[in-house]
Amino acid sequence: MQNFTYVNPTKLIFGKDQVEQLKTEVPHYGKKVLLVYGGGSIKRSGLYDQVLGQLNEINVEVFELAGVEPNPRISTVRKGVDICKSENIDFILAVGGGSVIDCTKAIAAGAKYDGDAWDLVIRKAQVEDALPFGTVLTLAATGSEMNSGSVITNWETKEKYGWGSPLTFPKFSILDPTNTFTVPKDHTIYGMVDMMSHVFEQYFHQPTNAPLQDRFCESLLTTVIETAPKMIEDLENYELRETILYAGTIALNGSLQMGYRGDWATHNIEHAVSAVYDIPHAGGLAILFPNWMKHVLSENVERFKQLAIRVFDVDPEGKSDEEAALEGISRLRDFWSSLGAPSRLADYDIDDSQIETMADKAMVNGEFGNFKKLNREDVLAILRASL
Ligand code: NZQ
Ligand code: ZN
Repeated sequence: MQNFTYVNPTKLIFGKDQVEQLKTEVPHYGKKVLLVYGGGSIKRSGLYDQVLGQLNEINVEVFELAGVEPNPRISTVRKGVDICKSENIDFILAVGGGSVIDCTKAIAAGAKYDGDAWDLVIRKAQVEDALPFGTVLTLAATGSEMNSGSVITNWETKEKYGWGSPLTFPKFSILDPTNTFTVPKDHTIYGMVDMMSHVFEQYFHQPTNAPLQDRFCESLLTTVIETAPKMIEDLENYELRETILYAGTIALNGSLQMGYRGDWATHNIEHAVSAVYDIPHAGGLAILFPNWMKHVLSENVERFKQLAIRVFDVDPEGKSDEEAALEGISRLRDFWSSLGAPSRLADYDIDDSQIETMADKAMVNGEFGNFKKLNREDVLAILRASL
């Protein structure tokens, strides 16, 4: 293993009716609260009323920023920063999925920065301070509820970047599985694809002694694979939602990646695709990941074979390492397709007309990927295989 230090300061509050903990948690941080949410799902589910009820009981003054988009925009971040600065907000509460939480992270850092918040996303300026914020999560997917990362889109320039800072961990996150009952089938599927992809990004790392980490990754993947088909047929099943909600958080709260660096190339390519086409993040991942796997297979075929045997039940008898590995990748593709995830860019009506632009966007910081460094030709090959 490489040397490492692990800190995760987010207080995780998990289970039924835990939204009541807002009354205990929020008063630690002040009296003026900015409530940030998305396009209305929390109003339809009744969660908005519950949250406001809790906040009213503790007599905080509540300001609101509604309408955070999926793939949140810097324009919305700027609106939130303006409210924080003009109203002297003490604390931000994000109620929603990864997009609402990511937007909140950028608002929290932007509120303590004199320039434009986009500078922080493109790393032109460093985050030196941030407002405290908490979350009530409504969608199992990104892990943003217990990590410091955020992904923001600039729709004017068609750029989408991940950024983060030790100052942008949520102070607390409330995860009640019942708040995910209303997530529609398509976003439930995307969420499960996203968390599996996060595990793959970490599973594929340069050789290092990480047998326990491998087993953690493999058990998370097999748990999602066992649960997902039942989940999509029974969207209001508490235990299934609970399993998936917990899996999504563990998949990207840093606990799997102790002692090595994951790859993260596929996420980088996906961000370039959804910067140009505004497709759901995990829809892009479902298309790209098996093609990335085939493209980099020769880098460490043993690792792919291990995944194929341990997670996708491939019988290696009579097969070369490469055949076993490829069978694993094809079982992953079949599994995601069986859930209803897309498998080609054409499923989103994306053709090759912008393929060079997407490759340029993916390459903006030069070669990338820690399992295998990808250059522009590699990216183009993966995109072409995905058409
Ligand atoms: O906006 P509302 O009305 O709330 O509707 C949302 C949205 O349309 C809906 N939804 C959420 N909870 C719901 C619900 N509908 C009914 N009932 C509920 N309980 O679902 C739609 C998608 O929501 P969104 O927040 O966009 O999804 P997700 O959590 O998948 O977040 C995606 C964003 O996170 C970024 C992605 O790039 C993308 O921008 N990522 C963030 C990461 C991080 N911070 O660590 C890592 C990820 O890899 C990812 O890149
Ligand atoms: Zn992701």
